[in-house]
Amino acid sequence: MTDRTPFTAAEHEAIRSEFLVADTRHYLNYAAVGPMPARARAVIDSINDTLQRLDRSFDAETDLAAARSRTAVARLVGGTSEEIGLLANTSMGLNWAFALFGLKPGEAVLISDHEFPALRYASLHLQHFGVEVVTVPVDPHGGLHPEQLEQVLGAHPNVRVVATSWVYFHNGFRHDLTSLAQVTHDHDAWFLVDGIQGIGTRPLDSPGTGVDVLCSGVHKWLLCPVGLAFVWCRPEIIRERPSPWGGWMSVEWNADYGDLLGEPRSMECGPRGAEVGTQNFAGVRALAEVGEWFGSLGLDRICEHSDRLTDELAGGLDTTRFEIVSDRRPEHRSSIFCIRPKRGDAAALHRHLSRNGFVTSLREAAVRISPHFPTGRAEIEQLVQVLHEFS
Ligand SMILES: Cc1ncc(COP(=O)(O)O)c(C=O)c1O
Repeated sequence: MTDRTPFTAAEHEAIRSEFLVADTRHYLNYAAVGPMPARARAVIDSINDTLQRLDRSFDAETDLAAARSRTAVARLVGGTSEEIGLLANTSMGLNWAFALFGLKPGEAVLISDHEFPALRYASLHLQHFGVEVVTVPVDPHGGLHPEQLEQVLGAHPNVRVVATSWVYFHNGFRHDLTSLAQVTHDHDAWFLVDGIQGIGTRPLDSPGTGVDVLCSGVHKWLLCPVGLAFVWCRPEIIRERPSPWGGWMSVEWNADYGDLLGEPRSMECGPRGAEVGTQNFAGVRALAEVGEWFGSLGLDRICEHSDRLTDELAGGLDTTRFEIVSDRRPEHRSSIFCIRPKRGDAAALHRHLSRNGFVTSLREAAVRISPHFPTGRAEIEQLVQVLHEFS
């Protein structure tokens, strides 16, 4: 059941108390890197404390945390924990997926010309193996639409994988994954999604959308440390083809490392196979804590909060002076809100905001404003005021 109840003042205060809040700085840059909540820092501090000691013992806790992290992620993106694997970053997830699909020379991957470099370069790398990359130009304010995809796939029957971001990093456009997956499958291709700019901001039912593989780092909207990501894979694919990678940590040891040389244990075939070696212990522990926190707060409520913030921003903005770059329609909006001044350049606006204490990003000649659930409504009111003062 969807619960979009706004956070009460007390709940929001409790959320804010997870962070070191500066009176004069306003963090509106979650699309870059998320700040670390106290609960993540506490487990990282505790693991560092253990690492420094001469009496360390944490194997069982870490194995348990990996299982908890997979479960928490599954709750946020749909599917089950068996369909989740943890790895180092989004790019590794994309590379794992491409290896899983096993593209042959002459086959092609389709991406748009507005993809973040993680997907673009992972795709271009396949050219070394004779795989073609079909790059589709899209509207800089929008993204890939099913009708356009249908047309391009019709003209390129060798496309085996359609790959896209759920949300574009530079304009915040949120793709309609269900329709894109449908068109992709109609053309007998796989659908691969980089979810990093949307996961943690709103619910996602990955199995329901028809996505085949989803990957995402956790250091932005999921507020976890850098150097950790996950991959989700549709269970039917797991049954059909084994993980293209495997290693000693793709085996369930249950924290029992006393007999490592015995009979080989059975290896996990799905995304767990991507967990080839020693994990980022601290990151995995933090993901377990923070992922469970997100689950208890509720992604619908988180989304409600951000939608309200970006609505207030859109409502307060003087549109004779600023262009809203982001698509605000309910089916395409996201927590990323990009603007550019109609006179003057975006770099000057970015500097103005920075001088006034607002942390944002300059991306593709626009200022990217990315608030999240710890952001307060008063901060958006102040932002609107500071925007009015821009000349
Ligand atoms: C859409 C998108 N994908 C991926 C990344 C990061 O990729 P990785 O986790 O491989 O560093 C970013 C931003 O850093 C991004 O905006």
